[in-house]
Amino acid sequence: MAASNSGTDRKALVDKFGRRVDYIRLSVTDRCDFRCVYCMTEEMTFLPRKEILSLEELFLIAKAFVDLGVTKIRLTGGEPLVRSDVLSLVERLGQLTDLEELLITTNGAQLDKYAEPLRAAGVTRVNVSIDSLNAERFKRISRVGKLDKVLEGIEAARAAGFNRVKLNSVIMRGYNEDEVIDLAEYALARDIDIAFIEEMPLGEASDHAREDTTCSNAWVRELLNSRFELSESAAKTAGPSRYVDVKGYKSRIGFISPVTHNFCGDCNRVRVTVEGRLLLCLGNEHSMDLRAILRAEDFSEANLRDAIVAAMDLKPERHYFYEKDHAQPIRLMNMTGG
Ligand code: 5AD
Ligand code: SF4
Repeated sequence: MAASNSGTDRKALVDKFGRRVDYIRLSVTDRCDFRCVYCMTEEMTFLPRKEILSLEELFLIAKAFVDLGVTKIRLTGGEPLVRSDVLSLVERLGQLTDLEELLITTNGAQLDKYAEPLRAAGVTRVNVSIDSLNAERFKRISRVGKLDKVLEGIEAARAAGFNRVKLNSVIMRGYNEDEVIDLAEYALARDIDIAFIEEMPLGEASDHAREDTTCSNAWVRELLNSRFELSESAAKTAGPSRYVDVKGYKSRIGFISPVTHNFCGDCNRVRVTVEGRLLLCLGNEHSMDLRAILRAEDFSEANLRDAIVAAMDLKPERHYFYEKDHAQPIRLMNMTGG
């Protein structure tokens, strides 16, 4: 009989290139109360309810991964906090004893009300996306978001006692490239970290051509260098960020450079979309349909684990953004899971 990962037999997930997968990003909804220009088009059609996983199905997937050695789960969306009753899922995940880190990426708009319950349910760290500190600008980028609510949300997260609160900013020419220093100063003044993200060509952006707006992180770093004393940080999180320390401050500044610096070599993560598609790579379509397994008549947790183990062989070596002869993903970020 072929060895399977049944019972308490915990087997590590390893792909064909020897990379160990111990981190999943689980999308709990494709919906969002914002419409950020780099992530969504203005008029979005969202998935019908029967296509999306129930909270129970999401839990079963998370549990299967934890049984297979995953120690870190990030909840994403869309915006995870617009999923109704999301806290009940968070509470169940918080009770998985082998899960070491439970994280959430949010737009912050509802954190004023959710920060404390999330912390109480076992969320260890929070990432808040914020691309501008100017209310009008903020609205232009998010199309609908209110800056004040997000700033309140960030304060609530700081007060709730997470191990770490981090900001994420996508820097785009013509939108917010002149706010790099302000955003950094905002984070530094609060002892929280901030990561600058290069805009990725995921799906078609409707308000701009991505080639015109993408700012390289080399450029962002140069700008920060003119204002702060930066030095390579020893800190390494199990994610794609490269960090620098800032002289005189506790915060670190991170750079996530999917376009100009390929970080696939040490990729340790996979994504699950809210349709139950296990995406093996952010920039490729290789995937496995876990929903079909969950909804099959002969469903069992062992079947689910076997499928996940088998899917590891599908993980591609790397992503190709803006490289000749390689098609770009048509999936928008809300369907991918930040
Ligand atoms: N490129 C880079 N980052 C993106 N995000 C969403 N779409 C894109 C994109 N095309 C980021 C958001 C947020 C996280 C969920 O993903 O800023 O931080
Ligand atoms: Fe919503 Fe985040 Fe996408 Fe903005 S980037 S539309 S906040 S999911």
